[in-house]
Amino acid sequence: MRRFAYCKVVLATSLVWVMLDMFILLYFSECNKCDDKKERGLPGRDGGPRDGPGEGGKPVVIPKENQEKMKEMFKINQFNLMASEMIALNRTLPDVRLEGCKNKLYPDNLPRTSVVIVFHNEAWSTLLRTVHSVIDRSPHTLLEEIVLVDDASERDFLKRPLEQYVRRLEIPVRVVRMEQRSGLIRARLKGASLSTGQVITFLDAHCECTIGWLEPLLARIKQDKTVVCPIIDVISDDTFEYMAGSDMTYGGFNWKLNFRWYPVPQREMDRRKGDRTLPVRTPTMAGGLFSIDRDYFQEIGTYDAGMDIWGGENLEISFRIWQCGGTLEIVTCSHVGHVFRKATPYTFPGGTGQIINKNNRRLAEVWMDEFKNFFYIISPGVTKVDYGDITSRSALRQKLQCKPFSWYLENVYPDSQIPRHYYSLGEVFSYTANKEIRTDDLCLDVSKLNGPVMMLKCHHLKGNQLWEYDPVKLTLIHVNSNQCLDKASEEDSQVPSVRDCTHTRFQQWLLRNVTLPEVF
Ligand SMILES: *[C@@H]1O[C@H](CO)[C@@H](O)[C@H](O)[C@H]1NC(C)=O
Ligand SMILES: *[C@@H]1O[C@H](CO)[C@@H](O)[C@H](O)[C@H]1NC(C)=O
Repeated sequence: MRRFAYCKVVLATSLVWVMLDMFILLYFSECNKCDDKKERGLPGRDGGPRDGPGEGGKPVVIPKENQEKMKEMFKINQFNLMASEMIALNRTLPDVRLEGCKNKLYPDNLPRTSVVIVFHNEAWSTLLRTVHSVIDRSPHTLLEEIVLVDDASERDFLKRPLEQYVRRLEIPVRVVRMEQRSGLIRARLKGASLSTGQVITFLDAHCECTIGWLEPLLARIKQDKTVVCPIIDVISDDTFEYMAGSDMTYGGFNWKLNFRWYPVPQREMDRRKGDRTLPVRTPTMAGGLFSIDRDYFQEIGTYDAGMDIWGGENLEISFRIWQCGGTLEIVTCSHVGHVFRKATPYTFPGGTGQIINKNNRRLAEVWMDEFKNFFYIISPGVTKVDYGDITSRSALRQKLQCKPFSWYLENVYPDSQIPRHYYSLGEVFSYTANKEIRTDDLCLDVSKLNGPVMMLKCHHLKGNQLWEYDPVKLTLIHVNSNQCLDKASEEDSQVPSVRDCTHTRFQQWLLRNVTLPEVF
């Protein structure tokens, strides 16, 4: 039963993991066949009958006879391009907001925003559906412009045809080109620097904004130093069905510094007195979609330009906002849909792993103080990565007098997977102040007397996950069973077990803090 529940947890976490990784990777939709003369994604349907394919956010079903062609086209962008091309660029979407959001009133002196969208080899239909949804569902008085930053796409229709198309739209749309492939971070910085609105709203290139998405974001930006994200709804990569995201999850991260969604904790529900239409304070942002005041973006140091391509930049800006006196929120009355992909055809010289390791090391070194060791412990090899020069980022932290990472864990993210207080952090596990033996979100658990121990999802209810360390006898006693953690295990199994305490050397454990070499 318990194993079954555990499997479900593991399954659910890995699903979320895959979704998120795809979300972060989505930017790198690389065209496999860019010189294929039959380039896909050329102008789709401009508008159509209200009962047309995909209207109301409904799924598109491809008839059997076209399935082969559909599969071929799928490879181009790693989503169902055939379905996307059938859907009107200005299709209707359901109003997925909470009832309490629908008649909220906002001040009429809201700041105006520029919308910055970076794309690389994006399909025509998804890119333009993003643009149309922004224009159709935003009050034009609040829209300064849309800036499309082309990160060196290789498709002809994204050159002059795109420029000609956007010229006739009711809102100024600028197309800016990167001279060479630069990655999300640098392309966004370029777009931001060329935009003029008081607020900068970053979107990905395959989004759809729903009714009322913009006003609640801008209303929160009027609060000093507040950075806001919408709820990210899911647009199916298979059918382009529109599915509402939850207002009950917020952003966190694990020991590997992977962004993850977690349930909004009770304390955050209590702070809002149970009103789910009020913005949620979130420890981190997913990264793709957010709005920020232009001056504040400058003041807190935009992005770390020493980071390559993408990865880690969302946690970096999240830590920076909180530690340096700002607030990061998910505005639950704002919904923007996003195509989540299952795979990316993109490859990068040296491998994406190296880039993410480098970026993550920069963020760990600059922002996480001694807690960076939790990341280093669980990511062997990461300490060998050259992370470049971080002097200017450390100087920024100094200049802004940002608070320590322990403050962030204490005040912003107490439910973090990283224990705020711990007795030891060793090569394998940490022994926390709550007396758990733990690695990431897994805790050492006992389900059978005299039997092997195992790692299960931490429940923080003590119970079978409570261990008492005796620093003199060096024993780890499983309190519930009064048995000792024992290195001897069943034949040919490497797993330690619990046994009656004998105080032999098989039951002695030396808990200490690892010392990581100073210079890597
Ligand atoms: C979509 O665009 C078409 C053609 O431009 C127009 O006729 C139609 O009314 C639009 N639909 C909506 C819902 O705005
Ligand atoms: C390990 O480090 C933590 C955090 O700095 C500290 O509280 C703890 O006392 C240390 N433990 C040992 C055994 O030195």
